[in-house]
Amino acid sequence: MTRTLITGGTVVTAVDTYAADLAIVDGKIAAIFAPGHAPTGTFDATIDARGKYVLPGGIDAHTHLDMPFGGTSSADDFESGTLAAAHGGTTTIVDFAIQQKGEPLRKGVDAWHAKAEGKAAIDYAFHLIMTDVNERTAAEMGQVVQEGITSFKLFMSYPGVFLVDDGQIFRAMQRAGELGALICMHAENGLPIDILVQQALAKGHTAPKYHALTRPQIAEAEGTHRAICLAEMAGAPVYMVHLSAERALKQVVEARDRGLPTYAETCPQYLFLSEDDLDRPGFEGAKYVCTPPLRPRSMQEDLWRGLKTHDLQVVSTDHCPFCMKGQKELGKDSFAKIPNGMPGIETRLYLLWDGGVRTGRISMNRFVEITSTAPAKIFGLYPHKGTIAIGADADLIVWDPLKRHTLKQSTLHMKVDYTPYEGQEVVGGPSHVLSHGRVVVQDFKYQGKKGDGRFVKRSTFSL
Ligand code: URP
Ligand code: ZN
Ligand code: ZN
Repeated sequence: MTRTLITGGTVVTAVDTYAADLAIVDGKIAAIFAPGHAPTGTFDATIDARGKYVLPGGIDAHTHLDMPFGGTSSADDFESGTLAAAHGGTTTIVDFAIQQKGEPLRKGVDAWHAKAEGKAAIDYAFHLIMTDVNERTAAEMGQVVQEGITSFKLFMSYPGVFLVDDGQIFRAMQRAGELGALICMHAENGLPIDILVQQALAKGHTAPKYHALTRPQIAEAEGTHRAICLAEMAGAPVYMVHLSAERALKQVVEARDRGLPTYAETCPQYLFLSEDDLDRPGFEGAKYVCTPPLRPRSMQEDLWRGLKTHDLQVVSTDHCPFCMKGQKELGKDSFAKIPNGMPGIETRLYLLWDGGVRTGRISMNRFVEITSTAPAKIFGLYPHKGTIAIGADADLIVWDPLKRHTLKQSTLHMKVDYTPYEGQEVVGGPSHVLSHGRVVVQDFKYQGKKGDGRFVKRSTFSL
């Protein structure tokens, strides 16, 4: 039996902030003591958290590790991606497995287990991307849910690759409703976007900035509206992934005001970067190509407002890294060939603390809620994860609010040759990251080992 005491810190959950000592026994939170009241002499290890906060570990509900996409494969696999996540204070990820067109769901799930097995530094779970919905695959969804994969992603975008039509979306939503599963929607109308892309290329508009100019926010607003309507018709909840635009947010607000079970996440790139980054000199804008695209800077405040009003519940990363060299470069002559996606699995908490909590945009409790508690509740990980409570997994961060460092590709751990935040100084970061009570990162040093992370079966949707 291993017993660890975290002493002298201030515990922060989504609702409370209080001084306490935490006892961890065999990977779980076993007791919460008033400061100084833990029995002495009973612990194998003590972590001094004086002057620091003790937070539930981050949960990143949107990652793409080892994913074939855009003619290449995302640069982080389960080893490097989860190690990077741990360095940034994330202790659980939910990655997107993929069903290839025409294949059984089982094959996609097995392929993702094979990619992750024995490699992860922290716990991981899966969503499943469905690329065709028919009566056979709708039936197979039941087995997938039983195996703890309780959410499915569908795309209105990427015709010929991931796009499914409205009938397929509706049928998957009906089935998800029956099973207690959640549909995650990539809600951007991809068919008119493809026409705009072809028209731009025909005019010789090949630079990265045309990625944003050919994916206007109305395509996302329309997709969001349609997804909400289809979910309402199917009597099912829906979760909008990577919401980026003001008009899309309006659709979510309107749906929630009508009492519909509509949920939405945004991502740090939409809160901190803008379409101006796509227009950087030369080909540098390719670093900022992701889908939906970065939007005008003014929309950042709309998204912050959505986080404040709880119309946006989650900030996850959509970590989908591609190196400039050999990957983003595929689109040197055409923005349409730049693999879509940005790295972010390691930098989410730094950015949100520095740019959200320190600036007074969100409280510490809201920080915990959007990065850990809400994704845990929405995706069936709560109460084992996402909070600090007796019996919960001891997935914890000791957070030093004064830790100051500069985000640099050369010191981050993601296996990608740039960070969109190069040179940015941030204040606040984890001194210790614990997974199941074991310290995996201490003072920027990795203490864990490959394969420590486990696959987590998630419960069905119950909000
Ligand atoms: O650009 C992005 N977001 N790449 C990952 C795929 C997706 O749509 O989430
Ligand atoms: Zn997407
Ligand atoms: Zn994604």
